[in-house]
Amino acid sequence: MGDAASLKTVRANDLHFHEVAFGSDEYKQTCELRNEVLRLPFGLNLYSEDLQQEKDQSHFGLFDHGNSLIACVIAVPQGSGQAKLRQMSVKAGYEGLGVGRRMLLSLEALLARQGVTQLSLHARISAAGFYEKLGYVRSGEPFIEIGIPHIRMEKQQQSLKKP
Ligand SMILES: CC(C)(COP(=O)(O)OP(=O)(O)OC[C@H]1O[C@@H](n2cnc3c(N)ncnc32)[C@H](O)[C@@H]1OP(=O)(O)O)[C@@H](O)C(=O)NCCC(=O)NCCS
Repeated sequence: MGDAASLKTVRANDLHFHEVAFGSDEYKQTCELRNEVLRLPFGLNLYSEDLQQEKDQSHFGLFDHGNSLIACVIAVPQGSGQAKLRQMSVKAGYEGLGVGRRMLLSLEALLARQGVTQLSLHARISAAGFYEKLGYVRSGEPFIEIGIPHIRMEKQQQSLKKP
């Protein structure tokens, strides 16, 4: 995947989005992707972090028809209808094709059905424009996390939880 043919044929709406169980093979694929996209380019290694703390977090992937992982994201429930999103990653070569939007909208809809109305995340400044296009607003001052400038961003959404 990731070659010129894949880039021409990938259609974000044809990818399938689902939750991934902590510790599963699919979870291991998400770790690989997060390491490739979010850690190795900065001289860091995801596997030197305490991944056991991710046991209580919700992991999601966007897969192609061959079940290859194209993008992933984590949601951390924070009680009272709140969730923090973490480690949004789109596979190299698939950026700018609508994959990130498709995954985030799918996650927001799933969380809305669970009653989550307040979303927050720490965005890399370089990605803040992406989140703004999806309705997130900047909150507070920029700060450094893992050596990179970040900004907190928030979005309010309607609950779709059935009474
Ligand atoms: C940032 C990232 C998640 C965006 O996903 P993507 O699939 O490339 O984005 P999409 O193609 O869905 O883009 C949706 C819209 O956001 C815009 N956009 C995408 N990345 C952007 C960026 N870094 N800055 C500003 N706008 C951006 C697109 O141009 C598109 O705009 P349009 O609606 O006018 O067409 C992805 O590129 C990525 O994983 N980057 C590397 C890791 C990273 O920075 N992760 C975020 C950590 S906070």
